[in-house]
Amino acid sequence: QQRPILIEGPMPIEAENFAERLEDVEVEKSGTFEFYIGTVNDYPVIVAKTGKGMENTAAATAVAIEKYNPAAIINQGTSGGHDPNLNVYDIVLGERTTNIGSMKTGDRDEGEGIAPKEWIPMDLMASEGSAGEDPDAENIRYYEADEDLLAAAKAVKDVHEEGKVVEGTIGSADVWNNEVDRINWFHENYGTSVEEMEGAAAAQIAKGYDVPYLGIRILSNNKTNDGEYDPNTAEANQEYVYEVVKQYISDQ
Ligand code: 5AD
Repeated sequence: QQRPILIEGPMPIEAENFAERLEDVEVEKSGTFEFYIGTVNDYPVIVAKTGKGMENTAAATAVAIEKYNPAAIINQGTSGGHDPNLNVYDIVLGERTTNIGSMKTGDRDEGEGIAPKEWIPMDLMASEGSAGEDPDAENIRYYEADEDLLAAAKAVKDVHEEGKVVEGTIGSADVWNNEVDRINWFHENYGTSVEEMEGAAAAQIAKGYDVPYLGIRILSNNKTNDGEYDPNTAEANQEYVYEVVKQYISDQ
């Protein structure tokens, strides 16, 4: 029995378009998660509608791994630009994914105020000790893309005609940043190309189970260059990811 490829999308508009492309589909539910179990070119593919955010995504990823034993995971959907050179409809292949909500604040006494630019990254996977005290935890944890998934995605870049496809860094947190100075700070200090609310959660769980992982995110908005939100980007991303999946299957 072949192990399936798992394609994750948070919102209905980020999952259902791909799910409609599957053949011989059966739907299974687990909690709030929906799994569309089918095939692409006779190869098993499962689309997971995870819901938004880190918690839903981490749980849906763990449930899917335990239930379906996927050979590879692609987490995909929309994102907000951190790089002014990227426009709405451009796609970022997450060479690296990192959690931009996992932080330790500076040391300040009562009355000394709040200073977000002093906050430092906190790597919860650095050790089993207290992340607040362990100097090893003062580190940005990057989850690396699987080479074979990335190669398949690079090979079909040309099929995406509405924008460019680039390699970059995806930053995730249950935060929607609308402060351009804060966005620029992440871009400079974490090297983020885009932000969203799921990738790092999926990447962390995939790594825990040693399952190959890639994040693929289209820009639906970009505050740094006045790129207005366009929800139709979600469908364009799934069209591209569908081509990536077919390429990955033909490489196997
Ligand atoms: N910031 C955070 N999340 C974003 N998303 C799209 N654009 C952004 C942005 N600028 C995605 C998230 C989440 C939903 C709100 O849309 O991944 O699923």
